[in-house]
Amino acid sequence: MSYNNILSKTSDGIRTITINRPSKLNALNKETIQELHDAFLEAEFDLNTKVIIVTGSGDKAFVAGADISEFADFNEKEGGQLSAQGQKLLFDFVENLSTPVIAAINGFALGGGLELAMACHFRIASDTAKMGLPEVSLGVIPGYGGTQRLPQLVGKGLAMEMIMTAGMIDANKALSHGLVNHVLPEQELLGFCEKIANRIKRNSSVAISAAIKAVNANYKSGINGYHVEIDQFGNCFGTDDFIEGTTAFLEKRKAEFPGK
Ligand code: COA
Repeated sequence: MSYNNILSKTSDGIRTITINRPSKLNALNKETIQELHDAFLEAEFDLNTKVIIVTGSGDKAFVAGADISEFADFNEKEGGQLSAQGQKLLFDFVENLSTPVIAAINGFALGGGLELAMACHFRIASDTAKMGLPEVSLGVIPGYGGTQRLPQLVGKGLAMEMIMTAGMIDANKALSHGLVNHVLPEQELLGFCEKIANRIKRNSSVAISAAIKAVNANYKSGINGYHVEIDQFGNCFGTDDFIEGTTAFLEKRKAEFPGK
């Protein structure tokens, strides 16, 4: 599939999706959101893609937010639709993928950019990264899940402060509050993400997908995460990966998992 605003390539089981609008600091316009949806969907169904890394093009930004020029003249109804449509197509969609998604934050991750990174399963940042939800400076609030996911990751107090001040935090502050898992010099960021992806790749994709469902269940209202865990745990026992994983252990050899 070819795209106007993103690049997508797979190498050795790792799909790297790069948002590629550097002249607009990779801001998410409607077309980019649709293309990201299509690219993530394609990766999800590609049996050879075991891990996805998402990053931004250029050396300045991961994503500097939703494209402000596209919604500046919206009314209430259009604003609500923008948020609902974006959450469905991209942000909730990414969070609920069965394939692990790592955000490689290589610069500004603001507004929708930080929201995209937070929808990923975990985040790794360059030491040049700056993160924030500046929406209230534009007279709106975060609309792509930011008011929900930021407090989940950093706690309510810091989330409130970041949202109310519209300020940015640097990579080390993000690290100390659990917003990102690691901070690397910029030139080492993608290599490090690939190293982690390679470690993930060795394990059972089927079990990882079950783990994602169980962990995510903790954050869904009206769902008992412990019950989801019991169901997913039980389901694993009916899989070829379980037979291979346990047999390999007992035979004192490395497990060879077939794929997704
Ligand atoms: N939407 C649309 N265009 C954006 C954008 C966004 N969220 N963020 C940056 N751009 C565009 C700028 O308009 C500019 O385009 P132009 O050259 O055609 O004028 C280009 O990207 C470069 O941005 P610029 O502001 O010149 O870079 P900077 O280094 O001076 O500042 C930022 C960088 C990130 C501080 C600044 O671009 C910014 O504040 N962006 C908006 C962040 C935001 O509010 N995001 C939340 C949106 S809901």
